[in-house]
Amino acid sequence: MAASCSLPVVILALFLLLVAAFAPATAASPSKRPTHQPLLFPMGLAPLHRRQSSGRYAAAAVTASAAAATDNGTAEPFTAHYFLQELDHFTFTPNSSHLFSQKYLLNDTFWRQKPTTGPLFVYTGNEGDIEWFATNTGFMFDIAPQFGALLVFIEHRFYGESIPFGNDSYRSPDTLGYLTSTQALADFAVLITSLKQNLSAVDAPVIVFGGSYGGMLASWFRLKYPHVAMGALASSAPILQFDDITSWSSFYDAISEDFKSESLNCFSVIKAVWDVLDDRGSNHTGLLELSKTFRACKTVQSADSLSNWLWNAFTYTAMVDYPTPANFMMNLPAYPVKEMCKIIDSFPAGADVIDKAFAAASLYYNYSGDQKCFEMEGGDDPHDLDGWGWQACTEMVMPMIVSNESMFPPFSFSYENNSEGCLTYYRVRPRIHWITTEYGGHNIDKVLKRFGSNIIFSNGMRDPWSRGGVLKNISSSIIALVTEKGPIIWT
Ligand SMILES: *[C@@H]1O[C@H](CO)[C@@H](O)[C@H](O)[C@H]1NC(C)=O
Ligand SMILES: *[C@@H]1O[C@H](CO)[C@@H](O)[C@H](O)[C@H]1NC(C)=O
Ligand SMILES: *[C@@H]1O[C@H](CO)[C@@H](O)[C@H](O)[C@H]1NC(C)=O
Ligand SMILES: *[C@@H]1O[C@H](CO)[C@@H](O)[C@H](O)[C@H]1NC(C)=O
Ligand SMILES: *[C@@H]1O[C@H](CO)[C@@H](O)[C@H](O)[C@H]1NC(C)=O
Ligand SMILES: *[C@@H]1O[C@H](CO)[C@@H](O)[C@H](O)[C@H]1NC(C)=O
Ligand SMILES: *[C@@H]1O[C@H](CO)[C@@H](O)[C@H](O)[C@H]1NC(C)=O
Ligand SMILES: *[C@@H]1O[C@H](CO)[C@@H](O)[C@H](O)[C@H]1NC(C)=O
Ligand SMILES: *[C@@H]1O[C@H](CO)[C@@H](O)[C@H](O)[C@H]1NC(C)=O
Ligand SMILES: *[C@@H]1O[C@H](CO)[C@@H](O)[C@H](O)[C@H]1NC(C)=O
Repeated sequence: MAASCSLPVVILALFLLLVAAFAPATAASPSKRPTHQPLLFPMGLAPLHRRQSSGRYAAAAVTASAAAATDNGTAEPFTAHYFLQELDHFTFTPNSSHLFSQKYLLNDTFWRQKPTTGPLFVYTGNEGDIEWFATNTGFMFDIAPQFGALLVFIEHRFYGESIPFGNDSYRSPDTLGYLTSTQALADFAVLITSLKQNLSAVDAPVIVFGGSYGGMLASWFRLKYPHVAMGALASSAPILQFDDITSWSSFYDAISEDFKSESLNCFSVIKAVWDVLDDRGSNHTGLLELSKTFRACKTVQSADSLSNWLWNAFTYTAMVDYPTPANFMMNLPAYPVKEMCKIIDSFPAGADVIDKAFAAASLYYNYSGDQKCFEMEGGDDPHDLDGWGWQACTEMVMPMIVSNESMFPPFSFSYENNSEGCLTYYRVRPRIHWITTEYGGHNIDKVLKRFGSNIIFSNGMRDPWSRGGVLKNISSSIIALVTEKGPIIWT
């Protein structure tokens, strides 16, 4: 059941959502730079930064599903359904029985009825609307005929149309408090059970599938609800990116290794650019010049914007380093990291590092050649709460730092600062050890060897998220599929 490499595009989809959310980018808060509060938070915790990128990804996502939907007039390959779901599975307070409408999609074209009822392949939705995941998932459709499977895609609460309090869902911690992974898993269990009853398929086996955060959910679902799902395929699922299980610098070290493996000069140029950018961008004249060099649509207010722009280009390109041309988030050639490094290496040695870095980043933003100028500073409202930001500020605390050996400017992480930021932006404090308390993670090999079964973890090592994934076989039925040169692997 290795993720099919023939479907790079598919693989990416989820991913980018997760990425935008975890906003590696965020990052760009190099040592010498003035530390704006939002820039201090790696991952989902940088509302300002994240907004800039999420706008772009959201737009791309919409384009992607629109294209899928209107692809020469063919309809999307599923039907939409709604299930009245309980708001709070874990208390019996008066408001817990509030109901909301949870969306799910079905495709029964391949479902076998005789001699025995075929299995249900259930996608455990992640942080976005479910159509987006369903239209970008190829593997489940590929194998459904062989298994005679019913395909089910369940939307995660608080995303897409499955918002419990309508337009007020994201307004405050009083409503967002119901957005947790445990509630989401319980939603899946309740819905699957009801669906099987309605379809008179109570005995049909269920396998759950997911990628990135959806993959984390799939693996946790198998562990928590073994009576509901008999197996899970978790792709690019960084379930070990919590606490101190995985080195905090592994994400950016992995990206740096990707670039260094192409060319040492390439790595060195990128490593050198940040200080030069800070230095030249330290006054108005410098910013004006840099804005011209970077072909910014509007003169930028701060050199941080340019750093973020470069940071995003290198980070996302590493994640989508497919061996074939792909047009998922951005139109890119095969092996885009190699192509970026070729661009950098083709400059004369004495050329300005800024010109080199800009030219490389342009491959990411303008490979199709249709950009007139680059939008560097988005005007989004930083106070607009959103789902993943909330999750990252409550349960999904994945500490990340940039080591001195990385090509990115060194950056550290502190639980205290992170907590203060979350309090400011979301009026909530993270519970930093909750995920490992609830789902485990420490000594996962020993624990799961004795207790778990039937989970496949798949990862491509070019994908920086792979470092927080399960990369070793744990038992005869808890299997790690690793592709050394692979990017994100999908379901
Ligand atoms: C529609 O079909 C034509 C011919 O097969 C193809 O060239 C084109 O790319 C398709 N359009 C889309 C949006 O896929
Ligand atoms: C299920 O998916 C297949 C493959 O994409 C498609 O041909 C079929 O029309 C879909 N069935 C439904 C009911 O949407
Ligand atoms: C319960 O719901 C009501 C009406 O939606 C709301 O006014 C009240 O604040 C809620 N109570 C709690 C404890 O959440
Ligand atoms: C929610 O917001 C959307 C988009 O702004 C709007 O079209 C819709 O009417 C709103 N719904 C309610 C119940 O206010
Ligand atoms: C199963 O049927 C009941 C009764 O019609 C309905 O309320 C429920 O939403 C259905 N379950 C699912 C998952 O659609
Ligand atoms: C702006 O900064 C550059 C580089 O630090 C310096 O050479 C230049 O004199 C400064 N210009 C002004 C107007 O301060
Ligand atoms: C994008 O690429 C095209 C084609 O190479 C080029 O003409 C254009 O100037 C580029 N846009 C920017 C903003 O650099
Ligand atoms: C990076 O180097 C500085 C100075 O040598 C040192 O103080 C710091 O701890 C190092 N940071 C990391 C993350 O290794
Ligand atoms: C935490 O915040 C303080 C005050 O803003 C800052 O000096 C310190 O460098 C921050 N620590 C980290 C690890 O970001
Ligand atoms: C785990 O075992 C499977 C099946 O035996 C094998 O194909 C795979 O390569 C192993 N994975 C690792 C990471 O060794």
